Amino acid sequence: MRNFTPETLTEAVVARLSDCDNPRLKAVMTGLVRHLHAFVREVNLTEAEWFEGIQFLTATGQKCDADRQEFILLSDVLGVSMMVDALNHGTPSGATESTVLGPFYIPGAPELASDADIAHGSPGEPTAISGRVLDATGKPIAGAVLDVWQTATNGLYSIQDPEQDRYNLRGRFRTGGDGRYAFRTVKPVSYPVPTDGPVGRILDAMGRHPHRPAHIHFIVSAPGYETLTTHLFANGDPYLDSDVVFAVKNSLVVDFAPTGDGTGLAAAYDFRLAPSA
Ligand SMILES: [Fe+2]
Repeated sequence: MRNFTPETLTEAVVARLSDCDNPRLKAVMTGLVRHLHAFVREVNLTEAEWFEGIQFLTATGQKCDADRQEFILLSDVLGVSMMVDALNHGTPSGATESTVLGPFYIPGAPELASDADIAHGSPGEPTAISGRVLDATGKPIAGAVLDVWQTATNGLYSIQDPEQDRYNLRGRFRTGGDGRYAFRTVKPVSYPVPTDGPVGRILDAMGRHPHRPAHIHFIVSAPGYETLTTHLFANGDPYLDSDVVFAVKNSLVVDFAPTGDGTGLAAAYDFRLAPSA
């Protein structure tokens, strides 16, 4: 077939998938081609705009390295990450709600003793975080691992900041037989996502601010349970209702309250894990 028109081209591209022997890939690529073509038709994309899009995606890839993930950031600010999260973790199960992984996780944080300080003397308001890891019925889970990471008070994660050690404000904690965990840190701050790359430029061009409300990241895992990727957000933060990556859920907002003895702040949270499917 030749002489394709806007009316015939889409189905011709889809038809070329007829020999694809991976049914899921075939379904995904069929949907991608149909929606991509529909998008191009809907906005009546010009050639200059098409090329600007190509350059934008090229720059997004070129901004990535072993630690920086500009494509995850792009997915986050366009709401795609939270759409995938909602579709995959949307069924109420009694488990703690999930939210985005974000672009700043690195594996391999050291396992630390309970009550260790992940801030290692970094400036900030001393804060104690504690609670339990439970199953969906409220039974404590022993041996659950909490992989924790957050920014310093300058708004930067360790891998963004040459002044911080690689695993500063990161650590892994293991629950005891009572399901309890505890660690010390500094109060997280709201921060802008990186604005020195293509994602920052497109946010600015769209008239959007780049800020995230203060939070601590967690990946909570235990054998026999679904791994939970989530945050705890600081109540009262001015960006809770306009998070640039759309990740805030009410059940994940906690009070960072003064301890009363002048030693800083404390926040408590019990995580609940769903059984493995
Ligand atoms: Fe974050």
